[in-house]
Amino acid sequence: MDMNSATSQFKNRFGYSPARIVRAPGRINLLGEHVDYNDGLVLPAAIDRATYIAFSPSVTDRSTIVAVDFDQPAVFSVEGLSAKSQTDGSPLPEWAHYPTGLMWALREAGLATPAMDAVFLSNVPRGSGLSSSASVEMAFALAWQTLGGWTRSPMERALLGQKAENQYVGVNCGIMDQFASACGEENKALLLDCRSLEYRSLPLPESVSLVVADTTVRRKLTSGEYNNRRNACEETVNLLKDDLPGITSLRDVHLDDFNKLAKGLPPELARRSRHVVEEIGRVNQSQSLLEAGDVQQFGQLMNQCHVSLRDLYEVSIPELDAMVEIAQGLRGCYGARLTGAGFGGCTINLVEREHASEFVERLAKGYESNTGLHPEIYICRASDGARLL
Ligand code: GLA
Repeated sequence: MDMNSATSQFKNRFGYSPARIVRAPGRINLLGEHVDYNDGLVLPAAIDRATYIAFSPSVTDRSTIVAVDFDQPAVFSVEGLSAKSQTDGSPLPEWAHYPTGLMWALREAGLATPAMDAVFLSNVPRGSGLSSSASVEMAFALAWQTLGGWTRSPMERALLGQKAENQYVGVNCGIMDQFASACGEENKALLLDCRSLEYRSLPLPESVSLVVADTTVRRKLTSGEYNNRRNACEETVNLLKDDLPGITSLRDVHLDDFNKLAKGLPPELARRSRHVVEEIGRVNQSQSLLEAGDVQQFGQLMNQCHVSLRDLYEVSIPELDAMVEIAQGLRGCYGARLTGAGFGGCTINLVEREHASEFVERLAKGYESNTGLHPEIYICRASDGARLL
């Protein structure tokens, strides 16, 4: 999949050539899971799987967007945005809530969103923890920026995407996914402080490969579990405020203080918040390890993160645990863990480059015989963020 297929799909559907093509990638996250909405630090990288949009301004005031992967169009204008309806009064299909949500957020910010003819297609698997929805949002943000003649920085576009997701789609996500899709850099991981929104890129050691392993079990983020986790964190902050009046998020809670106060928390909240406090500590530790190229120690932190997500945050599932456990026993694997929100989807594996192909093969076999499922496993590259092609 690439810009050529986007162009030919556009020509098929609309009968003329698109004005521009945009690409916005999915992401993996190396460390810092479920900490972005706790003002913590995260370490994602954009990947070489992406959403492509071919688009042109429409001659009408209606946008016609065709999702090639669903083989379905959605036709909408400003009037039906809030009601999530198409121009003929029928409800917008769910996939269309990402472009229309983005359009809504842009308009709230006073930015022009001219009607467009567009097709979009993606090779970021949906519901797999690789941020397919953020990649759609960031692709449309850039398409509308191009047609609207305004300019916002990649970080500002990421924030608009997060707003669309929070207030229009209804997932109370943090900033990590949209940020990674908008700001990605080739061969680099991005260390983002989700409180200050300052970030820097860290080169990934050349000796390692990033291997994504898809359990093929799909999750639905809107199912409520994600929002529950976020609420649990906020509730804990409120409880801890009695003893730590200055805190505004779990980012402000030091591990020593947490260890003293955890006994007083309801057990479930204690588990959830321990994950967050310790995970922020792991990301802090990881910076110097990555800079020094200490992939061994870095991988250990990834392994610890998985245990914590499984036992404390409770967002893993047996298939993810199986994929991680098998991976950790294979030659060349430094670290393996679930990536993204959890409840299904993919693991991310840090693997010695020279053993990567063998690793992919063995992991696929092991997973298949353990679960009876056919996984999709591939070596991926850290890539650039959203761009016009
Ligand atoms: C989803 C959300 C992100 C982040 C991760 C968990 O991908 O969209 O904001 O919270 O889950 O780290």
